[in-house]
This record gives sequence, structure tokens and C-alpha cells, in this order.
Amino acid sequence: MFEPGRAGQIRRGVVSYTPQYPLWTDGATKRRWLWLPPGRSIDASRPDAWVFPVGTRLWKEFAFAGRPVETRFIERCADGQWRFATYLWDADGRDARLAPERGIGALPVAGAPGGRHAVPARGDCLACHGDAPVPVLGVTALQLSPDRDPLAAHAEPLRDGDVDLRGLAARGWLRGLPPGLLRQPPRIAADSPAERAAVGYLHGNCGHCHHRAGTQVPLPLTLAQSVVDPKGSAAAVRASTVDAPSRYALQGGAAGAPIVAPGQPVASVLSIRMQSRQPLVQMPPLGTLAPDPEGLALVHRWIVQLNEHHRKETSP
Ligand code: HEC
Ligand code: HEC
Repeated sequence: MFEPGRAGQIRRGVVSYTPQYPLWTDGATKRRWLWLPPGRSIDASRPDAWVFPVGTRLWKEFAFAGRPVETRFIERCADGQWRFATYLWDADGRDARLAPERGIGALPVAGAPGGRHAVPARGDCLACHGDAPVPVLGVTALQLSPDRDPLAAHAEPLRDGDVDLRGLAARGWLRGLPPGLLRQPPRIAADSPAERAAVGYLHGNCGHCHHRAGTQVPLPLTLAQSVVDPKGSAAAVRASTVDAPSRYALQGGAAGAPIVAPGQPVASVLSIRMQSRQPLVQMPPLGTLAPDPEGLALVHRWIVQLNEHHRKETSP
């Protein structure tokens, strides 16, 4: 990604991008880059499952207190498989080395919550990236939509030179993308701005595991959005959360508690799990050491608002 021998200088042909619903990683600041082999493009004809060419490379840098700590890397190999690796930066930020395959449970890092940062094991990469329709999670029509959500949690402003959906198309990097998605860029179908931001948060942080296409998490819970069917996927989120019974007994209670209880965030299994960092309860199950206050606030607001909708619908 970097020009050899010139620290910090990005190679020609590598473009940066910033997804609108970023993954929460204990408050790390992130930068991301994409590179395609010259002359190749992404097959975007299935708008929810882009096919990246062999040779595609993506990097994501994690920084705390202004210092890069980790750069994660994925690459599509000649056999079509994806390779995952993460590199840890030296204290002076000049060089990065491959992290151990088993990861590091709590790397001492100034500026991270409690002074610790969790470096995922190689197998953990697959827990999040391996079951989604495409292992690339942040370079999608919804995540790079120019119609960005102003209330998104940890919304990162676009940086100079960042490409979005239109930018990718203009470079000739997308083939087969339905032109309607450029004329009217995708957005989440929601009843209110607060719902849009909460559902977007759940898509970005949970949807890669909780979706209908996969096999790793055999639960009815659906938190992923489709750009082909925004209304249908938003309805599926509501149907699988609002007043839907939980499959599990939590905190000594019985199974069957509502995943989302309208008006009652503290009685909703979804927000209890987001708030927890007990290994058997916490959601997401890996990748963070601390809950996300901003994400939780959005989800709470949505749950409270659902109650107001409920009341309106049921009052004479
Ligand atoms: C808890 C789930 C989770 C784990 C664990 C995880 N990732 Fe990711 N990763 C994501 C999500 C979600 C995105 C997209 C959103 C973003 O960039 O903020 C992403 C983005 C990336 C990107 C940018 C390309 C893309 O897919 O959008 C790279 C590269 C990456 N991850 C590599 C890795 C590697 C390597 C590991 C293991 C060492 C790993 N990730 C572990 C969830 C995870
Ligand atoms: C790495 C994959 C993964 C990610 C990411 C993930 N989950 Fe889960 N989730 C699971 C698995 C596996 C289970 C079932 C096992 C368990 O109970 O822990 C589960 C269970 C749940 C349940 C319980 C469902 C029930 O019937 O009681 C809820 C609620 C939930 N997740 C919400 C979330 C939320 C909210 C997020 C994002 C903030 C999230 N999950 C992110 C894998 C994941």
C-alpha cells in the first residue's frame, strides 16, 4: 500500500474510501484503501454481492491517540480464495510486522479503552468476513452511497480523494451496476431519521453475521440491509426483532424475552447484549473490549420511538 522506503506515501493506483456505517472497534480511528489490478473491475451486477477480481487488495488501518497500531489486509488470490492478515506497527510507526496467527487478546495501547486493544486471530477474521455473501464488507453500494446518513454513529467525514459509489463508477471500476443506483443512490428504508441511523448501525456492525444468506449463525434474527429491496430488508429487521422472542435464556431469566421490546431498551435482549462484555452474552461476540456508547444511544432512541409508533397505530 505504501511506496517502498517512503513512510506514509500511498502507492499510485490505491484509492481511499470511508464507509458510512463503520464498525465499532473500541474507538479506534480508521483509514481504508482499495486497489484493483490494472484494467480489472468489480462485477456489480448483483448489487448486494459484488464480485471482486482476482488480485484485489484492501487495507484497514487502526489508530489510537493518533498512532497507527494495526493494519488489516485482505487479498483475493489466484485460486479465488481470500487471504487475511494483520500487521502490527512498531512504536515509531515506520514499519509493520505480521501479527501472530492466534492474535493478541489485550495488546497494551495508549488511548484504547483501559489501555488495551484486541488483535483478532486469523480465524476471527473469518467469523465476521467469512459468512457474508462477499467477504468485502465496507466496499458496497450502501456503505459507499453518496446519500450518506448524517446521523450515522461515528460518522467519519469523507477525506480528500475518497471514492464513493459514483467515484468507483467514474473510474470504470464497476461493471453491470444497475444505473438506477447511480441516479438515486441507495439508502435504508426507515420511518424516521433515528430509525435509519439505528438500522444502519446494526447493518454495519451486525449484519455480516445476522443475515439470511449465511450458515454460521442459524437464527431468524436479520440485521442486514439489501439495496435491491430496502423496504423488504427493513421490514425483515422489524419482524425479527420487535416483539420477537429470544432463543436463549439470558442473565438467569427464561428464553423468550423480546429481542426488541418497544419503548423498553433495558428489557430488550438486543440492547442488553450490545451493552454487555461478558463473553457468552456480548454482541458482537468478538472484536471489541468495550461497548459502543454512541451505537447504544442510537439503538435506545429507536426502541423508545418504536413505542410511540406502536401507540399511534393502536390508539382509536
Ligand atoms: C467483529 C467483526 C470483524 C472482525 C473480527 C474482523 N473484521 Fe474486518 N471488517 C469488519 C467490518 C464490518 C468491516 C467493514 C466496515 C468498516 O470498515 O468499518 C471490515 C473491514 C475490513 C477491511 C476493509 C475491507 C472490507 O472488507 O471492507 C479489511 C482489510 C479487514 N476488515 C480485514 C480484517 C482482518 C484481516 C481481520 C482479522 C485479523 C478482520 N478484518 C477481523 C468486521 C470484522
Ligand atoms: C461474528 C458474528 C456475529 C456478530 C458480528 C454479531 N453477532 Fe449476534 N449472534 C451471533 C451468534 C453466533 C449468536 C448465537 C449464539 C449466542 O447466543 O451468542 C448471536 C446471537 C445474538 C442475539 C440473540 C438472539 C436470540 O434469539 O436471543 C442477539 C439479540 C444478537 N446476536 C444481536 C447482535 C447485535 C445487535 C450485533 C451487533 C451489534 C451482533 N449480534 C453481532 C453472532 C454474531
